[in-house]
Amino acid sequence: MKIAVIAGHLKNISCETLIICIPEAASTQDYSAIAEIDQAFNGKLTAFLEEKTDCRRFGEITVIYPFGAIAAKQIMLLGLGNPQELTIDKLRCLSASALRSAKRLKSKSVAMAVRHNPELTGLGMPGLQASIEGAYLGLYEFNHYKSDKKMPLLSDIQIIAGPTDNTADLQAIVDKAVIIADSVCFARDLVNHPSLYMTPERMAHHAEELAQNYGMEIELLRESQIREQGLEAFWSVAKGSDEPPVLIVLTYCGNPQSAEKIALIGKGITFDSGGISLKPSEGMGEMKDDMGGAAAVLGAMKAIARLKPLSNILAVIPCTENMPSGRALKPGDVINSHGGKTIEIISTDAEGRLVLADAISYARQRGATKLIDLATLTGACVVALGKVASAIVSNDKQWSQTVLDAAEATGEKMWPLPVFAEYKEQIKSDIADLKNSGGRPAGAITAGLFLAEFAAATPWVHIDIAGTVTSDKETGYYQKGATGIGVRTLIQVAETI
Ligand code: BES
Ligand code: MN
Ligand code: ZN
Repeated sequence: MKIAVIAGHLKNISCETLIICIPEAASTQDYSAIAEIDQAFNGKLTAFLEEKTDCRRFGEITVIYPFGAIAAKQIMLLGLGNPQELTIDKLRCLSASALRSAKRLKSKSVAMAVRHNPELTGLGMPGLQASIEGAYLGLYEFNHYKSDKKMPLLSDIQIIAGPTDNTADLQAIVDKAVIIADSVCFARDLVNHPSLYMTPERMAHHAEELAQNYGMEIELLRESQIREQGLEAFWSVAKGSDEPPVLIVLTYCGNPQSAEKIALIGKGITFDSGGISLKPSEGMGEMKDDMGGAAAVLGAMKAIARLKPLSNILAVIPCTENMPSGRALKPGDVINSHGGKTIEIISTDAEGRLVLADAISYARQRGATKLIDLATLTGACVVALGKVASAIVSNDKQWSQTVLDAAEATGEKMWPLPVFAEYKEQIKSDIADLKNSGGRPAGAITAGLFLAEFAAATPWVHIDIAGTVTSDKETGYYQKGATGIGVRTLIQVAETI
């Protein structure tokens, strides 16, 4: 979807739905956005808003019909609430719900007046970017498997420039927001597809398409190379499945002068049955989401290749299923790893840390100077932070602060967990260097500390997205299903370092 910036008087904008924002304000003079329209109504709109103060509450949507007084067929009044409490992310949510309502009203074209209130222009270009992202993300639908595939009705969105705006400047921000939101939707699609379709090989196919379309280097390591490279922990998980594994490596070089190379590593378990430590069947279908980290990294790479930030990015994405079979890894086994540490297998269901351990040490071998991994790693993370926030575990205060700042700027909620040395006791093994489960207590932390062993001295941040990878309801700019969490934070990191 393309979103165009247009200039003109609000009353002359022809579209089906004109969205106007109304703050909770004491005086009618504050309604600068609607002054012009109010004139066309001979002051009746102001009178209406004076009486129906509910319209101004945050998130309130009121549709009014102009009966020909202006060019738009209908006006959607969008309540901004208390301007002091308005944040960039709330604006993103607001925009999503407005567009969703327009879609439900079967509107084909929408024009948004998001540059006509001081409350909104005060949020600057990040505010504009957020309102576009929200609009785009709010309209997302996954109907790939529905026989009755209706074409989206609402495909025409226009942003009306404010009186003092430069249209070209706004269009640049709008285009950027569309690139970002599109890459989030791409990640959502990857996660929403079932494992029957989204096999490791299919992940590789999508990565190849990205590399071709947007100009990135790609390497695909298959069974023989995975084994040759000594990625034994990765292979130990993969060997139990009939679907062949792939290690996807994408390279983006936006700053050849710099020695800095950021590795983005994503857990790509396309289905996690638990392996021989089989999961209970109830809810097992959700484990098609276990490649959410991989999807986030691919999504971010799509946007990075298009936005071309001045940084060097290496994506390392280990993709495999985790299945039980006669060839599968067994509890009690001791395996080696790319990093050279031996691992006692307590549970074959703690497979994510095995594939990531190898991906992390492989990224370091490939010259990564900083690391970020994203993974649907532990149920314990969901217990700790629910479906609201992702958990952070790190070995470097400064680097984790960079990631936390990026997350904060994008509205993706992340929270650091403590990494006291005592927790490491839980992953010491009697027979090997490490064991792959530290038991139930502090499970999200011990999983992170297992990975820390492979990051060694390289600054590293682990983001556990087990809770945030999907939403169980429509809320804000999320639909039920995949959220595309992590994509926007990763893009932000690539743009700010
Ligand atoms: N993919 C799961 C983690 C998960 C759980 C993601 C719930 C999303 C929702 C991971 O591979 C796993 O099974 N972890 C185990 C680790 C345990 C065996 C140490 C867990 O959390 O139970
Ligand atoms: Mn598992
Ligand atoms: Zn898993």
